[in-house]
Amino acid sequence: MNDCITLAVESSCDETSAAILKGRSVIALVTATQAVHEQYGGVVPELASRAHQSSIVPVVHECLEKAELTLDEVQLLAVTEGPGLMGSLHVGVAFMKSIAIMRQLPLVGVNHMKGHVLAHCILGQYEKDIEFPFLCLTVSGGHTQVVLAKSPIQLSVLATTRDDAAGEAIDKGAKLLGLPYPGGPVMDQLAQAGNPDRFQFATAKLDDQDFSFSGLKTSLLYFLQKQTALDPLFVQNNLNDLCASYQKAVMEYLLGVFIKNWKLHPTACIALAGGVSANSYLRRRWSQLGEQLEVGAFVPHFDYCTDNAAMIGIAGFFQFSEGYSSRNIIPQPRLTF
Ligand code: KG4
Ligand code: ZN
Repeated sequence: MNDCITLAVESSCDETSAAILKGRSVIALVTATQAVHEQYGGVVPELASRAHQSSIVPVVHECLEKAELTLDEVQLLAVTEGPGLMGSLHVGVAFMKSIAIMRQLPLVGVNHMKGHVLAHCILGQYEKDIEFPFLCLTVSGGHTQVVLAKSPIQLSVLATTRDDAAGEAIDKGAKLLGLPYPGGPVMDQLAQAGNPDRFQFATAKLDDQDFSFSGLKTSLLYFLQKQTALDPLFVQNNLNDLCASYQKAVMEYLLGVFIKNWKLHPTACIALAGGVSANSYLRRRWSQLGEQLEVGAFVPHFDYCTDNAAMIGIAGFFQFSEGYSSRNIIPQPRLTF
């Protein structure tokens, strides 16, 4: 079982990704990002499904080639069953079901959000492996969650967002600043040359365990409206500082709410997951938080932060090890834990 060869596919949103794992180690990972959405300022579901359809065969083929394996050697199939876009999920699920039936292979449907959390269990990332139980802050374009991971198959959501997700708040803020979609990586880069303490933006009060981002975005909007009325070139002339300050506001708020949750569930390991965990400010602060709380602070390998099939492979492998598998998978756009 520890040498099980898993082929995994992720197609829940705008990345077509395939991975081959041997047990808990990744042998090959190929991810095709869909550039077609940039011109629309957000993911267009119909275009995403079509792009998945044209990429899925070449992506899986390239992944097998990189792993120097053929389908004959694959022992387990894992695919994202939700949450995500119906059409996009459908492409991955239909493709993997076909292989499962054709090759008589076991198939496991994986929850995308659990995949983000379990990406930490992929071997070879850390000098010392993460230990259960751990508390995970999952921050992506569609979700913001604090997850208590008691074991690979016992994951529970302790806190979530009441409105926008963290990545959404960043992307919407970036849009107000005139940056291309998705704004997160561009804002991160521009923030490197900016002063994070130059401007202050109001975040929601830390009065409970959940997150809320709508006020922060509005705070940026009103600030920009006021400043550009005085100086039409305000954004252009202060872009680096605006990015650094807004990014800091989002990340410090995330950390504040996470700490509240950790105090209620003080685990010895804390973990960061999801696309926003690629952010350089958050990665740096996460390590500092580990020292402050005197716990092991885990930040996933860069390739396993944004959507990828390796995380689906490891989650599928764990589920299969516990006896779960079924070829009767139906895409579930609103799948919860
Ligand atoms: O997990 P993910 O790849 O897709 C979803 O499942 O949503 O996360 C995408 C989100 C986007 O909002 C994107 O702007 C954000 O992750 N993101 C970043 C960075 N890289 C990606 N946000 C801040 N800094 C980054 N370096
Ligand atoms: Zn994701």
